[in-house]
Amino acid sequence: MPRTIWLDDERLFTWDQTRLPFEAIVIELAGAADCAHAISSMQVRGAPLIGAVGAYGLAFALREDDSDAGLSAARATLLATRPTAVNLRWALDRVAVAVAELPRDERAARAWREAAAICDEDVACNLSIGRHAAALLAPLRRGVDPLRILTHCNAGRIATVDHGTALAAVEALADAGVPVHVWVDETRPRNQGAGLTAWELRERSIAHTVIVDNAGGLLMRQGLVDAVIVGCDRVAANGDVANKVGTYLKALAARDNGLPFYVACPVSTIDAQCRGGDAIAIEQRSPREVTHVGGRAPDGSLVEVQITPDGSPALNPAFDITPARLVTALITEHGSVAASLDAIRGLRPAGAPA
Ligand code: MRU
Repeated sequence: MPRTIWLDDERLFTWDQTRLPFEAIVIELAGAADCAHAISSMQVRGAPLIGAVGAYGLAFALREDDSDAGLSAARATLLATRPTAVNLRWALDRVAVAVAELPRDERAARAWREAAAICDEDVACNLSIGRHAAALLAPLRRGVDPLRILTHCNAGRIATVDHGTALAAVEALADAGVPVHVWVDETRPRNQGAGLTAWELRERSIAHTVIVDNAGGLLMRQGLVDAVIVGCDRVAANGDVANKVGTYLKALAARDNGLPFYVACPVSTIDAQCRGGDAIAIEQRSPREVTHVGGRAPDGSLVEVQITPDGSPALNPAFDITPARLVTALITEHGSVAASLDAIRGLRPAGAPA
């Protein structure tokens, strides 16, 4: 499989994730507007991938207008596409800083190289996260049963440039020959677990079972889960974690059942400027994602059906906050650390060799 975004003859391509798992459609991102649209429409999604596409978007924008004003306007437009994943701001700032002092005619090419470097580093980070996470998880296997991991949303290969964060751990375990089984939360409303995580695990022939979002607590209580691991969109300086809505409930259930709750994230997902989880902007998405569900009809067409009565209002916060006290550890490319102010301060910065 190629990376989730790739260059072919200097043209940029990705998968349209709104069509997965039913159709694997490749789309070209041919300019800044395409990159912004791909992020806001969720053709691309997942915090690290959003950052990478944002970086290329800024590089494209500089080809059209390499002035300071052009740079800051494009940065603002791309930043507004999705509010919660801090990797977007991190990547845009990194490109903007890299070009700021350059002559205008050198900016676009430098930005393109910076975007490519962000992608390469993401791959290295994720492999490292996978190794650190697998080392923590493997000893949790009980007896002859496979290691039973529960995950929420999709923090796999297609949420990143390659390998994923939480699923990098599963990949590393499988590669090391550790038998593993993944409980996959469906992750309403957009079903990134049922659609994307299950698809990735199937592609890799890794044992998994899709469950409704509310089943995890019961499975933990029944002793059928050894650990929970999720990705995340932003970690505040105090260790509070923003991730796909429903993550908090999994962390509560894990704590009540004495199970470890790990958060896999590159250091670029840590927002030192954000003091605590309550300061993280939670994306509010269309109520239609709650009132309707998409899927494949018997004739193979992709359809959307209504599941609520006409006129019932719906609320659709896309992320929630898991307080640091419920997080067993953050697993970064530099190793695992406590979800606390002091431990986070001690981390090497994003971009340092993994
Ligand atoms: O709304 P999404 O699909 O972009 O949300 C994705 C998540 O919540 C992931 O868990 C997170 O971005 C980490 S991806 C490695």
